[in-house]
Amino acid sequence: MFPLIKEIFGFVPGNAVSVRGWVRTKREMKNLVFVEVNDGSCFNGIQCTFNREDSLTAETENALGLISTGTAVIIRGTLAESPASGQKVEVRSDGIEIVGAAPTETYPLQKKKHSLEFLREIAHLRPRTNTFGAVARVRNRLAIAVHEFFQSNGFQYIHTPIITGSDAEGAGAMFQVTTLDMEGLAKSGKAPDYSKDFFGKWTGLTVTGQLEAEAYAQALTRVYTFGPTFRAENSNTVRHLAEFWMIEPEAAFASLEDNMALAEDFLKYLFNAVLKDCAADLGFFDAHIEKGIIGTLELVANSKFGHMTYTQAITELEKGGPFEFKPYWGCDIQTEHEKFLAEKVVKGPVIVTDYPKEIKAFYMKQNNDGKTVRAMDVLVPRLGEIIGGSEREEDLGKLEKRITEIGLNKADYEWYLDLRRFGTVPHSGFGLGFERLIQYVTGMVNIRDVIPFPRAPGQAAY
Ligand code: 4AD
Ligand code: MG
Repeated sequence: MFPLIKEIFGFVPGNAVSVRGWVRTKREMKNLVFVEVNDGSCFNGIQCTFNREDSLTAETENALGLISTGTAVIIRGTLAESPASGQKVEVRSDGIEIVGAAPTETYPLQKKKHSLEFLREIAHLRPRTNTFGAVARVRNRLAIAVHEFFQSNGFQYIHTPIITGSDAEGAGAMFQVTTLDMEGLAKSGKAPDYSKDFFGKWTGLTVTGQLEAEAYAQALTRVYTFGPTFRAENSNTVRHLAEFWMIEPEAAFASLEDNMALAEDFLKYLFNAVLKDCAADLGFFDAHIEKGIIGTLELVANSKFGHMTYTQAITELEKGGPFEFKPYWGCDIQTEHEKFLAEKVVKGPVIVTDYPKEIKAFYMKQNNDGKTVRAMDVLVPRLGEIIGGSEREEDLGKLEKRITEIGLNKADYEWYLDLRRFGTVPHSGFGLGFERLIQYVTGMVNIRDVIPFPRAPGQAAY
């Protein structure tokens, strides 16, 4: 393969090079023409300089007249030390080939600054902007860092199903998967018979891979999943997607305390990976999206996360405010409360534990007080919840009782209960929302801007 621009930046001046990419800008000054070309391999584009005093060919002059922002080009020349500030090298160019034109009259991305709202309407072209190129590179680095972290800590990567029959969070927010003739059924007025459906039962898109990960943790000890997750909640917010990616580690013989330590080490590893390897992209976010983000990440990577119980959190919230939703013991902590705890009380990430069992999922380990469960949420400034997890109930009797109490269909969970019948052990895990992580690291406000093609209520273009 030909060298990418990020590789060309490392070449020794004097080398012959050819640059492939898309024109960002073209500027003319006296006898010089400057063409900045970007190929997305790194934040910076490379400057290609054409000097008319070097008697350019008619073809080159012609092509220089035709190129504009967005044109795909191949430029040939010699790498040279650059007299301009802000770049070490440039390409003294003598040939340019237009590979694909991008007519100025119709190409939507011009040199001016476009709003994020406008760019959301052209999600297929927005990766060509500084912001979305940087988001894509940070996303890529974080995805690989997830694997690095778990692989070096003895966790094995497993793939959990996307189509499933179980509503593992018990929240009733699943997308249905069916091959039944829904239109025909509606016309005939008949109720759907799911025993005749493709899988012979009702199925939907998974809301979590946790229950299946638990099965593998009880065999491989430490596992993790990293895959797409679907929630049909009608949440039109800047932190909810209908399709998002989740990382879910699950560890046998692990307590809630082990789980909290794992979550903290994991997040710090991820922050350090981008600080080290995405300096130029983070520099952009710091300058244009969220001032001080680099300093914040450095600080967080080097300080202990705060800890408090739900009960302590409620006490803090009752002292604070004003809030839209008045907090009280037993309430579901709202985003505004989460942000208050992280931003005002702890001034950094905080892990809140031991929530009332009524507001958490059936599988969480019950505390002896009969009221709370061994849940943990990691809350961060600007966003609120970024991780949700728990120690799991390993006691068969307690788990069966909870399933019945909540009104879930026990028959659906028999396989899961088997895990408590055979070789049950204390175990714990959590889920990190991958897009929320990217929001936290980049400072991007809207979750729809950190995933290439967002799916949200009323939005499934591309
Ligand atoms: O807190 P949640 O619902 O936890 C679970 O699904 C557990 N089964 C995880 C586990 O213990 N293995 O979701 C986990 C995380 C949240 O903290 C949040 O970061 C993210 O997933 N998340 C979403 N991200 C984007 N859009 C949504 N609609 C999200 N719902 C949850
Ligand atoms: Mg949660």
